[in-house]
Amino acid sequence: MAIVSSNAGPPSEGPGRKPSRVVDASRQEDDSAELSATKEDGLRPRRLDDYIGQRELKQVLGIAIQAAIGRGEALDHVLLYGPPGLGKTTMAMVLAEELGVTCRITSAPALERPRDIVGLLVNLQPREVLFIDEIHRLTRVAEELLYPAMEDRRLDLTVGKGSTARTRALELPPFTLVGATTRAGALSSPLRDRFGLIQRLEFYGLDDLQAIVLRAAGLLKLQLSPEACAEIARRCRGTPRIANRLLRRVRDVACVREVFGCIDVHLVDEALTLHRVDGRGLDASDRRLLELLLQSHGGGPVGLDTLAAALGEDPTTLEAVVEPYLLQLGFLQRTPRGRVVTAAGRGHLGWPVEEGDAA
Ligand code: ADE
Repeated sequence: MAIVSSNAGPPSEGPGRKPSRVVDASRQEDDSAELSATKEDGLRPRRLDDYIGQRELKQVLGIAIQAAIGRGEALDHVLLYGPPGLGKTTMAMVLAEELGVTCRITSAPALERPRDIVGLLVNLQPREVLFIDEIHRLTRVAEELLYPAMEDRRLDLTVGKGSTARTRALELPPFTLVGATTRAGALSSPLRDRFGLIQRLEFYGLDDLQAIVLRAAGLLKLQLSPEACAEIARRCRGTPRIANRLLRRVRDVACVREVFGCIDVHLVDEALTLHRVDGRGLDASDRRLLELLLQSHGGGPVGLDTLAAALGEDPTTLEAVVEPYLLQLGFLQRTPRGRVVTAAGRGHLGWPVEEGDAA
């Protein structure tokens, strides 16, 4: 749903509506730092109107944008959280585009030294969007520099060393911090409390995914049958980034098979099977997790750390990246005693469903 009216007036001061720029803020600022991903992938929606799904998020942000533009102020700081691939970075770029400002993109691991974050903050222009991915990974020092910057537009710099050290406060322009995380719970509460808008991104429903695949196919100049489109939507883990990736793999097979007309569901199946994506979108790591639970632990319960060690995965990655889709499908349950494969999960992997299995 479009909330932002394209004829909402420009801010009363500062930049009016002009095409936004996307800058990779972890690199030197020059033209080559312009984020090539936006040109390369070409499939990201640029405006709120083109962004499919996440209705509530769009509604909330649409109103906030319109209000900020109307008041001539920077948009309040925004925290976006949820599983990877659901469009957090895309939404930050859309916000900048709607506000007519540059989006500076970085991630917390690139802000290891205090001077990294200081350099970013002092170079901000009025109302720019600063996007920090994986914001739960900020160092303590970086977080403490951010608190007054977010709250009072003030940067507290320490000048000198030891007994001669002094704090100097530098005034910053109004700006919008957009933080993204897969682990909202890992954010310290002082940091979380400084975001005016905190929004969760949800897995996409089938209708929205089909619309996303259709849009991307149009941009890639591919023709898909309705069944082919629905098949990609069913097998992309509810995630647009994966839908677009699968579509590109389908395009590869179509190209090699010299299919230049309409791509049908058989070709989609061939491509996705080649990449070991099954009928519900599970990939090799999903199946490995479920198989391990079933084969070695009778379906569970098994603690996260034990599972992660056996799979050679980092527990936080397992929890934030692999598990959410299995939970969403109802193939896995988190219980106080550990992870359990459900009857639906067993059935999907072709294991007999036993009485007393988690529903
Ligand atoms: N491509 C990736 N995510 C999208 C979205 N939410 N809407 C439209 N196209 C997309």
